[in-house]
Amino acid sequence: MYKLNKSQFSFYTLYTPLFFMENLPFNERYYQPPYKEMYRRSLEESESFWREMAQGIDWFSPFSKVLDSSNPPFFRWFPDGKVNICYNAVDRHLEFRRNKVALIWENEKGENKILTYYDLYTEVNRFASALQDLGIKKGDRVLIYLPLMPELPISMLALARIGAIHSVVFSGFSTQAVTDRINDAKAKLVITTSHTMRRGKRIELKRTIDDAVSQTPSVENVLVIKRDEEIDLNEDRDVLYQDLTKKKIVKKVEVEETLSTDPLFILYTSGTTGKPKGILHLHGGYGLWTYLTTNWVFDLKENDVFFNTADIGWITGHSYIVYGPLQNGATTLMYEGVPDYPNPDRWWDLVEKYGVTVFYTSPTAVRTLMRYGEEWVKNHDLSTLRLLGSVGEPINPEAWRWYFKNIGRSTLPIADTWWQTETGGIMISATPGLGNYMLKPSANGLPLPGVDADVFDENGDPAQSREKGYIVIKRPWPGMLAGVWGDPDRYVNTYFSKFHNVYYPGDYAVKDEDGFFYILGRADEVLKIAGHRIGTREIEDVLISHPAVAESAVIGVPDPVRGEVAVAAVVLKSGYSPSEELRKTLLDYIRSALGSFVVFGGLYFVTKLPKTRSGKIMRRVVKGVISGAPVGDTTTLEDETSIDELKKSIEEFSKEISQQKKE
Ligand code: WT7
Repeated sequence: MYKLNKSQFSFYTLYTPLFFMENLPFNERYYQPPYKEMYRRSLEESESFWREMAQGIDWFSPFSKVLDSSNPPFFRWFPDGKVNICYNAVDRHLEFRRNKVALIWENEKGENKILTYYDLYTEVNRFASALQDLGIKKGDRVLIYLPLMPELPISMLALARIGAIHSVVFSGFSTQAVTDRINDAKAKLVITTSHTMRRGKRIELKRTIDDAVSQTPSVENVLVIKRDEEIDLNEDRDVLYQDLTKKKIVKKVEVEETLSTDPLFILYTSGTTGKPKGILHLHGGYGLWTYLTTNWVFDLKENDVFFNTADIGWITGHSYIVYGPLQNGATTLMYEGVPDYPNPDRWWDLVEKYGVTVFYTSPTAVRTLMRYGEEWVKNHDLSTLRLLGSVGEPINPEAWRWYFKNIGRSTLPIADTWWQTETGGIMISATPGLGNYMLKPSANGLPLPGVDADVFDENGDPAQSREKGYIVIKRPWPGMLAGVWGDPDRYVNTYFSKFHNVYYPGDYAVKDEDGFFYILGRADEVLKIAGHRIGTREIEDVLISHPAVAESAVIGVPDPVRGEVAVAAVVLKSGYSPSEELRKTLLDYIRSALGSFVVFGGLYFVTKLPKTRSGKIMRRVVKGVISGAPVGDTTTLEDETSIDELKKSIEEFSKEISQQKKE
C-alpha cells in the first residue's frame, strides 16, 4: 500500500524525536502527504475511500453497498459482501509467502516453535477438522481458555474458518468469570489445556474448567490440548485433541464463505454495571480494520518481525498478535510468560534472538522493567528495532522517557495507540505506515483515516481547543463493535445515548489547535489495573455476595507500577467484626471470583458509606477521603457526618492493623 521509500523513512525516524526533544513549535511541514490526503478522503469521499481500502483483503463475492445505516446505531459494513478472516490471514498467503515464518512462539524456558504460513495452514485445517468432528457448526459459540500457546491463534483461526464464534477468556480469569462467560454466550464447546508456566510456577487451567463446566448446561464437550504429560479426563465430556487428530490426515477444510456481517468473536469486557459485556465483532468490518490499522500504524514490511507483548485473552492480542499481522502476511511473535522471569531481560532476549523490528507493549510493563534498571537492557543488541508502540492507558512522562531512551535508543518513534475492545483496532495514533511520525509530548496523535473523532463537553457541544471533555467518534468505522451479545439495549445505552447518534467511548480527552488528541483516562466507574479493565461495580457485586458484607464502595487509587489499583470500603453485617483475617478472606474471595489481575491497594472496614439522598453511594467522596484529596461538593450528601465516620473508621482500622502486625 502506501509505502515510504527508504530515504524518507530514515529522515523521519531520525528527526522527529530530535524535533520532539527540543520541543520546537509544531510545523505543518511534518504532515506527510499520504496521511493527510487519506484522512481528508476518508471523510469527504468515504464511499469511494472504503471501496478502495476494502481491496486490501480478499472477498469471495464483492459487496454492493459499503455501509448499511438504515437502523442506527446498528451499522453494518459491506453487508452483502462475502469474506472470511481466516482465508485472509492464512490461505491467501500460500501463494507468495508459503515458506515465510508466520508465527514464532517461545516460553519462559526458551523452548520455541516456529510455524511458516504453510505450517499454520496445516495446523488450522487440522484443528478445523477436529472441530467438525465434535459437531461444531457455523454460528456455534466456543469458549477458548488457553495460555499463549500456538494452539490459541490456531483454534481461533480454525473456528473463524468454519464460521463458528470464538470467545477467548484470558487464562488468568477465575472459575466464576469463566462460568459466567460460558453461560452468557451458551457455549457448546470449551477448548483448554492442562496448565501454563508463569514465573516458573505451574498454573492449572483444566481444573478451573472442570469446576466451571459443572455449572454450564450448554457445554457438550471440553477439547483438551495435551502439553507434555497425561491429563485426567472426564470420559463423557472431555476429548483429547491429540487423540482426535492422531490418525487423520487432513489436507483441507473448506473455508466457510461467511457474510461480512457474520459474527467472528465475542470478547467480554468490563463496564459500569456488574455484568461484563460480550463485545461482538464481525468478519468483514473487523477484518478490514485490523488489516488496515496494522499497516497504517506498524508499517509492516516483508522482513519485519512484530512482537506484541499482550495476551491474546485481551483485544490487543486478538487484533495485533493474530488477525492484523497475519492478514498482512507478517511474522508475529508470541511469548508465553512474564517479562521479568527468569530475569528482567526476557523480552530483550527475544528481541535480539529473533531480530524483532516492531515492538508493542503497555505502560505498566515499561514501568515494571524500568524498576530493574537499565543494565538489563544494555547487554542486548536491540539495533533491529525500528518502531515502538504503547497501549492500554496513558503513558506517563517518566515511563515514556525510559522507553524512548533505553529501548528506542533515543531515536525511535513511539506510537501511543488509543483504542478499545469496542473499537476493534487502533483509532488515534501516529501512523508511520502513512508517513505520519508526528509526536508531541503526552499526545496520542491524530485520528486514523475514517475516524471522525472529536471532544465534546457535557452538553454535547464541541469543546474548546485544550478544554477537557469526552472523546467521541461521530460516524461509524469498519472496526466498530456490532453489538453487545444478547443485549441490544445495553449496546445502545452504553455507547450511543450519552450523545445522540455519536459513539461514546467513556474517556476524557483534550484536543489541541493542531487536532492532536490527548487521552486523559476513564470518565466512568471503570478501573485500569495494569492496563486491564475492571468495573468498580463488578468488584462491589462480588464483595456483597460474601455473607459478611452489607455494602461496599470500590474506588481506584494511583499506583506507581500498575497505574491504578483498587481500594474497597466495606460495611459489615451485624454479627461480623473487622479483623485482619476477614480482610484477607475478602481479598481472596475477590481474587477467586474475578482473577488475580484484580490487585488491591487496601480494604477498609467502615461503619457507614457516604450516600446521596436517593441512596446512591458517593464514590467520589470515598475516593477523596481515602486518597486524602479534596472530596468536592457534598451538598447532595444525605448525611454529612458520614464523611467523618468514614475518616474515623479508616484511621482506626489502620491503627488496629499496625497494632495487630506488631503483636
Ligand atoms: C481503554 C480501553 C485497546 C487495547 C487495550 C485496552 C484506555 C487504551 C490507551 C492509550 C490512553 C488508553 C482507555 C480506553 N487506553 N489505550 N494509548 N492512551 N488510554 O483495551 O480493555 O478495551 O480498554 O483503555 O481508557 O477506553 P480495553
